[in-house]
Amino acid sequence: MAEYILARKNNRNIPREDKIFGISSRAKAAIAEKGKDNVISGTIGALLDDDGKLVVLQSVDEVFRSLKPVDYAEYAPIGGTQPFREAVKKAAFGSSVPEGYIEAVATPGGTGSIRNVISNYSEPGDKVLTSDWHWAPYGTISGEIGRSIATFELFTEDGTFNADSFRAASSALLAEQNSLVIILNTPAHNPTGYSLTDEDWDKVIDILTEEAKCGKAIALLVDSAYIDFAGDEDKYRSFMPGLSRLPENVISIVAYSLSKTFTLYGARCGAMICVAKTPEIAEEFKRVAEYSSRGSWSNSAKIAQVILSRIYGDPELLDKVNQERKIYRDMLAARGRAFSEAAVECGLKIVPYDAGFFVSVPCDDPDGISRKLEERDVFLVPLAKGIRVSVASLPEETCRKLPAIIKEVMDCEN
Ligand SMILES: Cc1ncc(COP(=O)(O)O)c(C=O)c1O
Repeated sequence: MAEYILARKNNRNIPREDKIFGISSRAKAAIAEKGKDNVISGTIGALLDDDGKLVVLQSVDEVFRSLKPVDYAEYAPIGGTQPFREAVKKAAFGSSVPEGYIEAVATPGGTGSIRNVISNYSEPGDKVLTSDWHWAPYGTISGEIGRSIATFELFTEDGTFNADSFRAASSALLAEQNSLVIILNTPAHNPTGYSLTDEDWDKVIDILTEEAKCGKAIALLVDSAYIDFAGDEDKYRSFMPGLSRLPENVISIVAYSLSKTFTLYGARCGAMICVAKTPEIAEEFKRVAEYSSRGSWSNSAKIAQVILSRIYGDPELLDKVNQERKIYRDMLAARGRAFSEAAVECGLKIVPYDAGFFVSVPCDDPDGISRKLEERDVFLVPLAKGIRVSVASLPEETCRKLPAIIKEVMDCEN
């Protein structure tokens, strides 16, 4: 049978079944057959409690339930409601507001921001730069709009940020194309859990300042999807003021998402927020972002915009939300620690992990290892360079015993 019947391929490789979806459904079937205590399913990219139920912040849910039809039935303006635009800047930057011209445009989740940045700050045929370990949809989003992904090595041999690889890849792409979009997902990177340190950030800014001397247009997209599950909100935002050091032809754009921070995954809300050196560049950002929104999804959903505006309009409520999130963030940190410590104990090598939903285990044959793990009722996601474990979806006790199981399977394979 031909690969497509009526649809056009358009340079894309569209699998018949989404890999993660396939593994998740096999995990569900195994749980139904053998019971949840006999199956380990670490595939899901959402925070689950120890009983496997989705964590929903009660304080956010209360706001949701208090809304009136006008809060969700009405269209929001294309770029977002005014209170939302102000609230989301506060949510993204906290007390670490960079100097410069800042504009926020609402998008459906962080995904919408990524799409709009790529479509406006790169040209058809361009390569978008990100790290070798990366969230696969970057490739999907790029491919949908006629771009593709190029990668630098995230880590050196000794597990630190590979600034040399970042410099070499940026420089090579800037020699080949007129513009460059760079995506850095930090802190609490998906899939490794790595967070760029302040020193790593200094290097990134110095390298881009140097590379920008070519005069071409550069957009640095900071995908901050997991920022509020990394750790102390202020500490993990300390890199933000440094973005102001970038020269005029480098625009920084934070892709902010309400999915994890406010447990509003399904409400599809986020924002693209620029830090620009001139009012003209900031104004242009707003204009092109709103235009692209109109030409793709039109307005973003209003409901979560209203929820965020309410939370930021009421300091007591904001405090309540932050306190509640901290309880779950501590739960997540304990799981990550349990996995990392157990990995050291059994000699399982993992990719440098700092915080967040995922830990990755590097290996040569991720698909093979993942199949072997499935035979033992352990369901994890194979990536290009290793296996991804969602500690966000597993109780601490399971996180503690899982490394030894993975190690055993990998040792059998070798
Ligand atoms: C690395 C990364 N970036 C961005 C997102 C965007 O999520 P959303 O569109 O729900 O905000 C996700 C979600 O899983 C992610 O893992």
